[in-house]
Amino acid sequence: MSARFFIPGDAGAVAVGADEVATAFEAAATAKGLTLDIVRNGSRGLYWLEPMVEVETAAGRVAYGPVSADDVPALLEAMLAGEPHALLLGSTEEIPWLKRQTRLTFARCGIVDPRSLDDYRAHGGYKGLEKALVLGAEATIEEVVQSGLRGRGGAGFPTGIKWRTVAATDAEQKYIVCNADEGDSGTFADRMIIEGDPFVLIEGMTIAGIAVGATRGYLYIRSEYPHAVARMEEAIRNARAAGYLGRAVAGSAFDFDMEVRVGAGAYVCGEETALLESLEGRRGVVRAKPPLPAHKGLFGKPTVINNVISLATVPIILAEGATAYRDFGMGRSRGTMPIQIAGNVKHGGLYEVAFGVTLGELVDEIGGGTASGRPVRAVQVGGPLGAYFPRALFDTPFDYEAFAGKDGLIGHGGIVIFDDTVDMAKQARFAMEFCAIESCGKCTPCRIGSTRGVETVDRIVRGEDREKNLVVLEDLCHTMKFGSLCALGGFTPYPVISALHHFPEDFGATTPVLEAAR
Ligand SMILES: Cc1cc2nc3c(=O)[nH]c(=O)nc-3n(C[C@H](O)[C@H](O)[C@H](O)COP(=O)(O)O)c2cc1C
Ligand code: SF4
Repeated sequence: MSARFFIPGDAGAVAVGADEVATAFEAAATAKGLTLDIVRNGSRGLYWLEPMVEVETAAGRVAYGPVSADDVPALLEAMLAGEPHALLLGSTEEIPWLKRQTRLTFARCGIVDPRSLDDYRAHGGYKGLEKALVLGAEATIEEVVQSGLRGRGGAGFPTGIKWRTVAATDAEQKYIVCNADEGDSGTFADRMIIEGDPFVLIEGMTIAGIAVGATRGYLYIRSEYPHAVARMEEAIRNARAAGYLGRAVAGSAFDFDMEVRVGAGAYVCGEETALLESLEGRRGVVRAKPPLPAHKGLFGKPTVINNVISLATVPIILAEGATAYRDFGMGRSRGTMPIQIAGNVKHGGLYEVAFGVTLGELVDEIGGGTASGRPVRAVQVGGPLGAYFPRALFDTPFDYEAFAGKDGLIGHGGIVIFDDTVDMAKQARFAMEFCAIESCGKCTPCRIGSTRGVETVDRIVRGEDREKNLVVLEDLCHTMKFGSLCALGGFTPYPVISALHHFPEDFGATTPVLEAAR
């Protein structure tokens, strides 16, 4: 037997036993006098099926899952005999959850060997950079502008416009900073791409560097992602050895090199200016804007700061053209979004799809409802600062403007599902508590307001002057929303107010009381 086996080395798969499965395959093969070619690929993102083992066949890859180490001897036996096995999922590409997706950013994730630059190139890698070198800096930026790509880190700012600003700012030194702090609850897209297709991020950062005139890049990865850090450092070494980083990138007239920096576990360090402080070796405290990082960023120099997914999407935009990308999506939300489905859900994982899919489709059809089997009651979209959506709003399409229109946000594309046992007053308290713990302390509405918020929710739940305290809570949220320096304090009201408005009964309030409080 000389087939290639694919067993994810992705941290999510490893957490549920992928390493043990790989070892068991090796042992079972050795016992039979066989040697297996095992690739530790990235995850395909169907996490409820991990560890998902794939085998290359003449008809394409065939998947089995979820596989445990104990399953392996019988599974290998069945594979050798060409017999079906209870864990057989069929052709990987035909698994409906995967088949229904539009994988552009994640096109290679789970398919290539993430450690192999040759494999990356064999699957279309570095086509985007080649195109950028032909187009030149200005036309490359124009291509990104035309694609409609907006920042996938949360704010949704047009990536090409940000690049244009940095390109137009004169300086001897400019920087590209990639934000891989990925602190939002229920999100893992950055980690998945770094572990499953690291060269695409290197390529994206290199294109950004050439486009804006930056020769140095920093990738800021959260310390909770040790696998991603190791994978990225190895990929950077390989790209440098192959001439894709360093002097005269890919034989061109441009120099670009990059390194990994590891965070120290603060949510606020995902905020771009706090991240810069952290990169410069100081405590992660938010900087007042202006100046924008595009004008005065890292070490006071013009800096592009982009999320992992924004940068990892650039190579395919260049390779396939802006029009091919912008043809997907709706309204001003162009292209695809890697949506991360998590929480109490049957089919949790990463689902890349064009903007426009409704929240209800994501929760009920794609996610398959709750893992507990109980009814879905609320869904938090966009991380810890995102609003809670009740079923009544499940017709909201995944689109920046549509979510903003419902007092919510799509953020980094994470959705966390809760069943009917959730206590929304506890969730509102948690939002305030989270803000109090993670606040950088620079401004009063966030530093003090979040602590007062916890106390006020507690009073409401205890029934102390409930009507009065509901008014206080709404007023406090208003002050935090409009008076905070950054979105940590400014967006914490979203989960609080949405919980209060959509689930007043959990606060011991009746709708009329709530109306009075508004
Ligand atoms: C409290 C806070 C945390 C944030 N965390 C992240 C993060 O983990 N990753 C990220 O890319 N952006 C995060 N952001 C958004 C960044 O400030 C910034 O908008 C983003 O990195 C820009 O990249 P983009 O334009 O590609 O989205 C955070 C913002 C705030 C206010
Ligand atoms: S809102 Fe909070 S995290 Fe942001 S600057 Fe103010 S204190 Fe710091």
